Amino acid sequence: MGLIVEGQVVMDFPAENEPPLDARLALAGDFHRPLFHYLPPANWMNDPSGLIQWEGRTHLFYQANPHGPFHGTIHWGHAVSDDLVHWEDWPLALIPTPGGPDGEGCWSGCAVNHDGIPTIAYTAVFPQTVCLATSRDGLRTWQPHPQNPVIPAPPAPLDRRSGGHFRDPFIWRKNGVWYLLLGCKSEGVGGLILLYRSTDLVDWEYLHPLLEGDVHSRDPNWTGTMWECPNFVDFGSQQVLIFSVQAGHDELLHPLYTTGRMENLRFIPDRAGILVHGGCFYAPQILRTGDGRTLMWGWLQEGRSPEACMEAGWAGVMSTPIVLSLRADGRPGLAPAVELQQLRRKHWQAGDLVLSPEAAPLLKGIRGDRLEIQAVLDFGADPAALLAGLRLRCSPDGREETRVFYDGARQLLVIDRVRSSLDSTVDKRTAAAPLELNPGERLSLHLLLDGSVLEVFANGHTCLACRLYPTLSESDRLGLIAAGGPVRLIALDIWEMASIWPRPT
Ligand code: FRU
Repeated sequence: MGLIVEGQVVMDFPAENEPPLDARLALAGDFHRPLFHYLPPANWMNDPSGLIQWEGRTHLFYQANPHGPFHGTIHWGHAVSDDLVHWEDWPLALIPTPGGPDGEGCWSGCAVNHDGIPTIAYTAVFPQTVCLATSRDGLRTWQPHPQNPVIPAPPAPLDRRSGGHFRDPFIWRKNGVWYLLLGCKSEGVGGLILLYRSTDLVDWEYLHPLLEGDVHSRDPNWTGTMWECPNFVDFGSQQVLIFSVQAGHDELLHPLYTTGRMENLRFIPDRAGILVHGGCFYAPQILRTGDGRTLMWGWLQEGRSPEACMEAGWAGVMSTPIVLSLRADGRPGLAPAVELQQLRRKHWQAGDLVLSPEAAPLLKGIRGDRLEIQAVLDFGADPAALLAGLRLRCSPDGREETRVFYDGARQLLVIDRVRSSLDSTVDKRTAAAPLELNPGERLSLHLLLDGSVLEVFANGHTCLACRLYPTLSESDRLGLIAAGGPVRLIALDIWEMASIWPRPT
C-alpha cells in the first residue's frame, strides 16, 4: 500500500514491510535522533553497502538488522533519493536465505551496472564468501545468482592465515575487465587488500595483494589487524585506496587512505593517513556521480551502550554526503555536498569581531540542535599560543556543553566532549585531528550538528566526526571560546536545518 503525503507517494511497501513510516513517527520525539542524516525507520544500521545511480536516482543500500537495534542477521536495507539529501525507504533488498550461503547474513559489498543489469556483489556469511544478486524490476527486488558463491574461499596462500576473514567486495570496470577488491587479514602480518579480475563477474581470477599492512608498525598510523570495506578511487593521474581498520575482534578504529599510482596492476603507494578522525565514522563507500564528482558516505557508530541502543530502539546513522577530491598538495579533499544547502532555513550572521579570553560569551538569541555552522577564524601570525572556536549544545547553567576548537600549540582540531552529557555511560572522550595552519592561513570551520551527530570539516581537508548525547532539553545554546590571546572571528554563519522527512499531517 502506498502512503500519500502532500500528493506524493513517499512509500510503497509490500504488506510485511508496511511499518517504516509509523516507526519513524514513533521515534520522532527522540532528540538524539538525527533529522537530516539518513538512518533507517528503526533498529540497526551499519555500513553503506552498495551505492549506485540508476536512471537518474541514487540508491543507497546499507547493512541493516530489521529485527532490533543490534548487529545480528544482517540484511541489506535500501533507500532512494532524487537529490542526495531526501530519501525514500524501499523494501529490504537482500534477506538471508535459511540454508543458503548467506543464511547467517548478507554483509557488505557493492552494486554495479553489468551491461544494463543491476548487480550486487556481497559478502555471504558464514563462512565468508562472495555472492551475486541481480534485479529485473528496477532495483526493487533481487534474486540470488545460480552460481553463488562466485568466490567460495580465500586464495590458497591465505587459507590459514586469514582465519576466514575475507570480505566486502568492491568492483570497478576498466577496458572491459572487471576488477574486485576484498578486505582480508594475514595473522601476525597485518591487514590486506586482495585484487581479483573477471570478464563476467562470475569467474574470478585471484591476482595478488594490492596493499599490505604491517601490524608491528605505528608509522605514520597503526593499521590494525584486519582491513574492511576497501574502495578504489581513480582520480586519473592518481589513484586512492580507502579501507577501514579493525584493531581486535570488536574494535573498529577509522578509515585510512593511501594515495598512489596503479601500474601494471600493482599499487605504488605515495602518502597515507586517517581519512576521517574521531573514531565514529567507519566503513565509507564512494559513489561516482553522473556529474563527475566522487561522493562518500560512512557509518556513524553510536557512542553509547548496547542497552541504551535497545532502549532507544535504533542504532547507527549514515554520514552526510561528502565530496571527496584529490588536492594539488596530494591530500584528499573533504567537504559536505552542496545539495545540503537546500535544507538551510533561519539564518544568523556575525563578524567581524575579536574574541578574547574575557569576551567569549554565549550567543544571545541563537539556539538549536539541528544546525549548519560556518566560521572563519584568523589566528594572526603566531597561532602557537592561541586557542579558539565554538561551544555547542550548552545548557544555560553550564552543566552541559561541547567545545569545538583549534589548539594552536598542539596544532590540533579538537572536539572536547568531557562535559557533553550528564550521562556517565556515554562516550565522552576528546576527539582530535592534526591540523597545521600555514603562516597567515585562516581556519575555515564547517559544522553539521544533527541531534547526536556532529561532523566538523576544516579548511577543505580535515574531517572529525563524533556522537553527542546531552541529557538536558535546554542544551541547545551556542557560544564562542578563545584562550591565550585575541583571535579574530572574520565571519560566522549559522543556519537552522530542515528535516529530510515529510512531516506528519
Ligand atoms: C564493517 C563490517 C564489514 C562487514 C559488515 C558486517 O563495519 O564489519 O567488514 O561486511 O560490517 O555487517
